Amino acid sequence: MSRAPFQIDDTDGPRVTRAWVLHPEIKSDNDRRAPVPALAEAVALAEALPQLEVVGADVVPLRTVSAGMLFGSGKVKELHDTMEEAEVELVLVDGHVSPVQQRNLEKAWGVKLLDRTGLILEIFSDRAATREGVLQVEMAALNYQRTRLVRAWTHLERQRGGLGFVGGPGETQIESDRRAIDEQLVRLRRQLDKVVKTRALHRAARAKVPYPIVALVGYTNAGKSTLFNRLTGAEVMAKDMLFATLDPTMRSLVLPDGPEIILSDTVGFISDLPTELVAAFRATLEEVLAADIVCHVRDISHAETEEQAQDVRDILASLGVPAETRTFEVWNKLDLLPPEAAEAVRARAERDDNVLAISAISGEGLDALQKVIAEALQGAVREAELTLSFADGKKRAWLFAQEVVEDERQTDEGFDLTVRWSAAQEAQFQKM
Ligand code: GTP
Repeated sequence: MSRAPFQIDDTDGPRVTRAWVLHPEIKSDNDRRAPVPALAEAVALAEALPQLEVVGADVVPLRTVSAGMLFGSGKVKELHDTMEEAEVELVLVDGHVSPVQQRNLEKAWGVKLLDRTGLILEIFSDRAATREGVLQVEMAALNYQRTRLVRAWTHLERQRGGLGFVGGPGETQIESDRRAIDEQLVRLRRQLDKVVKTRALHRAARAKVPYPIVALVGYTNAGKSTLFNRLTGAEVMAKDMLFATLDPTMRSLVLPDGPEIILSDTVGFISDLPTELVAAFRATLEEVLAADIVCHVRDISHAETEEQAQDVRDILASLGVPAETRTFEVWNKLDLLPPEAAEAVRARAERDDNVLAISAISGEGLDALQKVIAEALQGAVREAELTLSFADGKKRAWLFAQEVVEDERQTDEGFDLTVRWSAAQEAQFQKM
């Protein structure tokens, strides 16, 4: 498969690439996060790739961004010496690097360079397990390459010589390269459509068994997979490894004294998620869009838990999660907090119906979590008896289209129906 721009050599076993991580701290950029945790996150991202060994990491304060090199010439020289001494082969820049900057820095330092988007694409392509995941990452990588190509090549304007069957005379290299990528994208899109259609069929089949869906979402490393395993007894890979879960995993689960549900574990979010990926993962995250309940799992022990939560909320909103979807915040890793802080979190959860305090490791709060989900679902789906006349054909068709009809009995005047529906469906029906 074609992959993200930088191909890490994993063909002959575990060859390790020595990597250095740089976090440019741009002074004029007001809404940047604190540089030290940002650097730590970038290092954790790099370590998500098993082929990399991170041998060093720096925050580089920048007053202005140099168009050609990103960093000033003194800094470039200084970093050159550092890289040389540490025998660095790959530099990861935690930010956006233009194609020109990338080429110049690679030349100046004698290394390969990846920016944040490139790194995340690389991780995603490493993790994608299902056909759909693989296709989506390929598409995102190609889209990324396409934009780079445009900017990287425009000043070169190489003429294509000779054969001429790829394009007419005068066609530039850039145009034909772009066309090749576009054709590849069309092919991928077609395959992806097929996969998505198959999945939609599966989902429709599942909808007939009316289990509500509860989706776990959250920032990467928040503990979603650990919670998922704990609740379902499954063996989803839960590791201190970012993006361990790329494709949604689903399992059915019977809540104590409650209904049977489908629990789905989803890809972890991250700040500055490349737009290519937000778009590409729309389909993967459609399980979240279809969910009856969304549990936003948070690592409450993380220094930047608030910023992370805001990022997750923003991404959910941009994905189009309906505002009326019931959402709980599940504050996880309670066991990592000092006793007083943990007490404050428990007290907060007591006061706020939307917040639950848990530890997926110690098991604290898990019974309460399941109870709250069961209660919310009780409220969400309820049974009702309806009487329709023969003239109400449109309403009756709507009910069937919504797949809420449990039972139907014909009478002299029309139909008596038993339905199981949500409050939203009921409201819609009343308006008809
Ligand atoms: P992504 O796949 O990156 O989205 O991560 P995730 O949200 O699925 O996180 P995962 O379950 O893989 O957990 C990440 C790390 O946090 C693992 O090392 C877990 O053991 C740890 N962890 C999860 N929950 C808890 C908890 O309640 N307490 C403690 N101490 N550690 C936890």
